[in-house]
Amino acid sequence: MLNILDQLRMMPEVARLAKRTPRDPAAAWEGYWSRVRSTGTEGEVLWDAEIGTEADQYAHVLEGHMDDGLPIIDVGCGNGRWTRWLAGRFPSALGVDVAESAVRRAARESEGLPAVVFRTLDLTVPGTGRLLQEEHGDSNVFVRGVFHVLRPRQRRDLSENIRQVVGSRGRVLLTETNFRGNPLSYMQSLGARPGSIPAPLERAIGGIPVPGHFGRAERRAAFPDGSWSVLADGPVTIEAVPMSGRTSTSIPGYFAMMGAR
Ligand SMILES: C[S@@+](CC[C@H](N)C(=O)[O-])C[C@H]1O[C@@H](n2cnc3c(N)ncnc32)[C@H](O)[C@@H]1O
Repeated sequence: MLNILDQLRMMPEVARLAKRTPRDPAAAWEGYWSRVRSTGTEGEVLWDAEIGTEADQYAHVLEGHMDDGLPIIDVGCGNGRWTRWLAGRFPSALGVDVAESAVRRAARESEGLPAVVFRTLDLTVPGTGRLLQEEHGDSNVFVRGVFHVLRPRQRRDLSENIRQVVGSRGRVLLTETNFRGNPLSYMQSLGARPGSIPAPLERAIGGIPVPGHFGRAERRAAFPDGSWSVLADGPVTIEAVPMSGRTSTSIPGYFAMMGAR
């Protein structure tokens, strides 16, 4: 009951912030990344937590199902934290992001690292998957936290591009937040209270598209059974930066390892 009252009291502030978000998702992401001044645990980017415990959940799935002789493409790479982690496991890693400011920051944060490159590309645009396939051949794909902020049509366009990229030999590891409550209860779970919204969350509410659920049902809609085979899937814990005096912030998530049929 208290929670619901708090949600009602948070509504005006959340609505005021959300109004600032540009309607065009690509413009929203560029605007968001262009204003980021600091990343990492103490930084401004909600999902840019330490990799440690979350990565342990993916490592054995990658090792069990992906050909580590193929390159890997990190779709929606942001500031490239996960691209750098992947680069140590595959011969080369390419991070792609719709926001040029994210790509510039990722390149800066990865300076001096061999075999990691970044590129600005909107992977929901038809044909971009084929372009990457022509340039790199069959590749593995990693996606963290992108599908849950896309609309259903964009999700299907993105999965179709990924199908082109993986071809017959690559695999995709998808990992998404899957909080099942309403957006306000999600914000509460991240430490928001009436009159007090943690800064990284406030930046997200006022800058980027509203996140949705992404679990097995949503995955099936985006990656139809006729086109994809699922090699492993299940719950996962996604880490966000610590907020509201906590030492960590964990969000329920869903992962799937898939190959194209
Ligand atoms: C929630 S962030 C996750 C970033 C990164 N994967 C991570 O986990 O640290 C989502 C990222 O996807 C990017 N993105 C959103 N739509 C995209 C699209 N259509 N094509 C490529 N990147 C996209 C955003 O710019 C943003 O950097």
